[in-house]
Amino acid sequence: MKVYDAMLKRRSVRKYTDKPIDKEHVELLLKAAMAAPSGHNLRPWSFLVVDDRETLDELSEVHKYAKMLKGAPLCIAVCGESYSEGRYQTLWDQDCAAATENILLQATELGIGTVWLGIYPSEANRTRTKKVLDLPDHITPYALISLGYPAEEKEPRTQYDESKIHHNKWGNKY
Ligand SMILES: Cc1cc2nc3c(=O)[nH]c(=O)nc-3n(C[C@H](O)[C@H](O)[C@H](O)COP(=O)(O)O)c2cc1C
Repeated sequence: MKVYDAMLKRRSVRKYTDKPIDKEHVELLLKAAMAAPSGHNLRPWSFLVVDDRETLDELSEVHKYAKMLKGAPLCIAVCGESYSEGRYQTLWDQDCAAATENILLQATELGIGTVWLGIYPSEANRTRTKKVLDLPDHITPYALISLGYPAEEKEPRTQYDESKIHHNKWGNKY
């Protein structure tokens, strides 16, 4: 699959079949995540793979837009190490965003449906997620990714909007 096709095909899929996701596919998703660009190449990220039904159900309650995790066979929690390291300040949230999108695109190629569930920066969301996942203090949950084989179809699309593009200086048409 071409990258552009994967980007259009990637849609938020919130209904899944019961079929579990193979471990080798999960490993490929994690390799895709850790191929992402990272500020100063610090890679201040960790990935928690959740396939325990009880924990998935608990995660589905961390906020009101996470309900699809109740029907999902897998969740990957993308977490950041939210402290400065050496002389560099980590750009950990941006690094985690890049890793998250890589997982979504690789999953698309594998025929796996996903949803990006925002956790950071909301303090309430972070606190609830940390509690469910037993995260240590220096680890901040950035996003949850709900994954499963699709039980709904979404049309591929871009949402291209010419009005969002400027040329050389703000306000000039490209
Ligand atoms: C930062 C971020 C947070 C999101 N959080 C949620 C969420 O909590 N629950 C949810 O159902 N979808 C969530 N989404 C998915 C968006 O609703 C979805 O990407 C958007 O409606 C566009 O639809 P598409 O993904 O099918 O292209 C989130 C997406 C992003 C990028």
